[in-house]
Amino acid sequence: MRFLQIKHLAAEHLNSAVELDRLCFGGLWAIEGYRRELDSPNSDLLGLWTWEGAGTGAPPLQIRAGTGAPPLQIRAGTGAPPLQIPPTLIGIGCLWAILEEAHIIMLAIHPQFQGQGLGQALLLALLKSACDRQLERATLEVRDSNLAAVSLYKKFGFKEAGRRKRYYEDTGEDALVMWRSGLEKPEFQRYLADEKREICDRLHQKNWHLAIDIFDF
Ligand SMILES: CC(C)(COP(=O)(O)OP(=O)(O)OC[C@H]1O[C@@H](n2cnc3c(N)ncnc32)[C@H](O)[C@@H]1OP(=O)(O)O)[C@@H](O)C(=O)NCCC(=O)NCCS
Repeated sequence: MRFLQIKHLAAEHLNSAVELDRLCFGGLWAIEGYRRELDSPNSDLLGLWTWEGAGTGAPPLQIRAGTGAPPLQIRAGTGAPPLQIPPTLIGIGCLWAILEEAHIIMLAIHPQFQGQGLGQALLLALLKSACDRQLERATLEVRDSNLAAVSLYKKFGFKEAGRRKRYYEDTGEDALVMWRSGLEKPEFQRYLADEKREICDRLHQKNWHLAIDIFDF
């Protein structure tokens, strides 16, 4: 069975973060960039891990950074069978809290795991983090041509508020600036709860086992 967990990244995960960054963005941030986020009290740097094994799905005591190394046979807890595949980082998301705004500056899912509802799970986790910090609005910039990301953000109520012309130096593309307001309202808590239910149902249908609350990070 394959399991999922969302957790804050720690220093021992940064090599995996850089590896995933290379796969998803062609190398946007070096390890120092990730370390800065860890060190900043205004950043939330979240990772999405998967591992495979039998049993209850109790998360490994300590999520390790899987880098393609052979399975480590970590034990999930007393009496649990050894994990067959150690936890591997397959998603990463980051926000900056600036005044009452959540700036979502990174969201990525490993290419082999896209299209299964994991991107929306990680976005939901970032929005939950923003709520926990009592932020009121969320914003981000996204490439005009990134239809998957634009569609994902729209699904979560982000609206296009403007463009930064020729923002991306590599292609000269525009950046769309998107905003999502109302995070401080009580109905947003209900919205998060409803979305969480839907996302979890979808992940179950895609054969992900959620023996633990993956949003309890
Ligand atoms: C954008 C990204 C995070 C989406 O992750 P994902 O796990 O594939 O997305 P999900 O399976 O959770 O899909 C959620 C929604 O996103 C949108 N979406 C995802 N893939 C899509 C695609 N290929 N085409 C159109 N819409 C898509 C849809 O609205 C989808 O909802 P639906 O399945 O109900 O239609 C992922 O494609 C990615 O990591 N891309 C590379 C990095 C990147 O561009 N990040 C964004 C930078 S701003």
